[in-house]
Amino acid sequence: MSETFFVTTALPYANGAFHIGHIMEYIQADIWVRFQRMQGKRVHFVGADDAHGAPIMLKAQAEHTTPEALVARIAADRPRYLEGFHIGFDHWHSTHSSENTQLSQDIYRRLRAAELIESRSVEQFYDPVQGMFLADRYIKGECPKCHAKDQYGDACEVCGSVYAPTELIDPYSALSGAKPVLRSSDHFFFRLSDPRCVAFLRQWLDQPGHVQPQVANKAREWLEGRGERALSDWDISRDAPYFGIPIPDAPGKFFYVWLDAPIGYLASLKSYIDSGKARANGETRTFAELLTAADTRQVHFIGKDIIYFHTLFWPAMLRFAGSPYRVPDNVHVHGFITVSGEKMSKSRGTGISPLRYLEIGMNPEWLRYYLAAKLNANVEDLDFNSDDFVARVNSDLIGKYVNIASRAATFVTRHFDGSIDYPAGTGELLGAAREVLESVRESYASREFARAMRQIMTFADRLNQDFDARQPWVLAKDPDQRAALQNSCARALYGFKVLTCLLAPVLPALAERVARELFGLERSLTWNDALEPPRRINPYRHLMTRIDPKQLDALFEPAGDPAVDTKTATQTRAEEPQATHAMPPGAQTPATLSIDEFKRVDLRVARIAAAEHVAGADKLLKLTLDLGGETRTVFAGIKAAYEPAALVGRLTVMVANLAPRKMKFGLSEGMVLAASGEAGGPYLLAPDSGAAPGMRIS
Ligand code: MSP
Ligand code: ZN
Repeated sequence: MSETFFVTTALPYANGAFHIGHIMEYIQADIWVRFQRMQGKRVHFVGADDAHGAPIMLKAQAEHTTPEALVARIAADRPRYLEGFHIGFDHWHSTHSSENTQLSQDIYRRLRAAELIESRSVEQFYDPVQGMFLADRYIKGECPKCHAKDQYGDACEVCGSVYAPTELIDPYSALSGAKPVLRSSDHFFFRLSDPRCVAFLRQWLDQPGHVQPQVANKAREWLEGRGERALSDWDISRDAPYFGIPIPDAPGKFFYVWLDAPIGYLASLKSYIDSGKARANGETRTFAELLTAADTRQVHFIGKDIIYFHTLFWPAMLRFAGSPYRVPDNVHVHGFITVSGEKMSKSRGTGISPLRYLEIGMNPEWLRYYLAAKLNANVEDLDFNSDDFVARVNSDLIGKYVNIASRAATFVTRHFDGSIDYPAGTGELLGAAREVLESVRESYASREFARAMRQIMTFADRLNQDFDARQPWVLAKDPDQRAALQNSCARALYGFKVLTCLLAPVLPALAERVARELFGLERSLTWNDALEPPRRINPYRHLMTRIDPKQLDALFEPAGDPAVDTKTATQTRAEEPQATHAMPPGAQTPATLSIDEFKRVDLRVARIAAAEHVAGADKLLKLTLDLGGETRTVFAGIKAAYEPAALVGRLTVMVANLAPRKMKFGLSEGMVLAASGEAGGPYLLAPDSGAAPGMRIS
């Protein structure tokens, strides 16, 4: 075996569900990984949740839960997305793990031994009420330049000026509202500006192939910055309270989340190997043996917003930590996905919810193909456009690819009982196959997926033209033309097999079906199967439907979608009550759902432990619900129908696994069910006596 690839994608923050940007990154990496495997390469493809940091700690606090529980809840949801889009990670782990603690502390100790860690006193704003130091985004105040109120600690959203939080006029803590005080504390710094680091990074960036040229240029700008823009050392410590990994020999100090996050790549690999799971993938070496092997390639796929961390800190940390740690062989950077030209903010997501896409029954391979058809090796943004999506998929996948099989297979089954013969030989066909295989291989390998898809579709066009020119439907009517009919269908079906091999990295589920159902293979297709003209087929079974543009309307409907990142509450949604989604009579009945879909709704009996008015809200009551031990806060739109006092002690029904939603008045952690219609309402549901808080409803 030649190279072994160790491939990762950026570790998503574990405080929210996946959005379409994550899915795009995973699809890009997954296509490349599947391609390499088809070439006979061994690949270890791992991911993990990025669990640490202040935002996760504070979010857990706001939800009255622990960071561990919050992270576990988010992690439990990951497989639905990954399986749904056929993203085949070999292993998924977490940065909040024993492996990551051990590796991070080890790397830190080695950097300290190399004299690249330095302690300095830092003066920073401290929130005396919350009892913690405040990162810039948790400090607000009046802009020192334009005097706009309520601006963040690092930059003004009104005039755009950038400043230090200490320059704000009348600063206050965004967490408690308290006036922050300046306090000093010792911080640890990684000495990125050390001449050894700079020299190493210069050389690493200069070697072609590590990063794309445009990425190397960007990184060099930072590396060679002068004066105000000079490269600074990196503050890698945070003071307690912090959800992170303790720094050795420094009580009360934790690693800044970005130090242990990339080490999470290694932690996931280590857990995958140490658990024995990697053996199933043919890996018998230890973690250290694999990393130090000369033919191992460590490959990271990331987005353009995190270049700094991956092209400066990360290689330098690894280099100076020394063996067995390995400097990345490639960092592949992609641009951002926009939807209909609109930028997606990290915190607001986009119009496309990946879960909704799956739930309304859209085919995940449509999206995989569409993204493949638009992705290249540059750091370019990519736009998802509905019309373009429908046209592209329908014309390429249905019109050019699937159709060729359905048309030719029907003749072969009807006239030749499924057997395929090549009366004119296979020489020319094999020659054409070799040619397209080679050019597509080159495109996939260099992540020029759009070019690969163009090459594949050009080949499909030629097949269709060839088939049409031979007019098999005319030949089929003339018994003397049997050989010609046989030949025209054989050419088309062999071509279809070639196309299927070429598209398999992008359409893994479809390729699997074609291999088994149509060609009767007992295994998945490999790249070289494209050089084996098929000798028989089973009757054609429907492979893929066209996209109905109406599905796109459903995809973009602003329905109350629990799948959308919990940070998505917008101004308008923030005031909507979350309860009482009853169907008015005559309203459109919802589409049918399967029993499994229904089972995903976690309905529970809840006791209303407290109910109160909400200052400033016309429709809402704030309910505290007892689920038999656990309590939840829910804002319910039932103020018009109920006096709070009359509700206390009652049993009702709640949806317990609805993603929490941030509302203007606080976080709502579920919803209660109520009926309403022409005769009024809302009427809260109540279980029969005997039911107890926490009971599951099914
Ligand atoms: N937790 C860090 C990464 C740590 S890696 C050691 C992080 N997480 S993230 O959830 O914000 O982003 C994860 C990945 O998604 C990043 O590579 C980021 O660039 C990518 N994307 C976020 N928004 C995106 C788009 N709109 N489009 C494509 N990728 C996007 O950063
Ligand atoms: Zn300003």
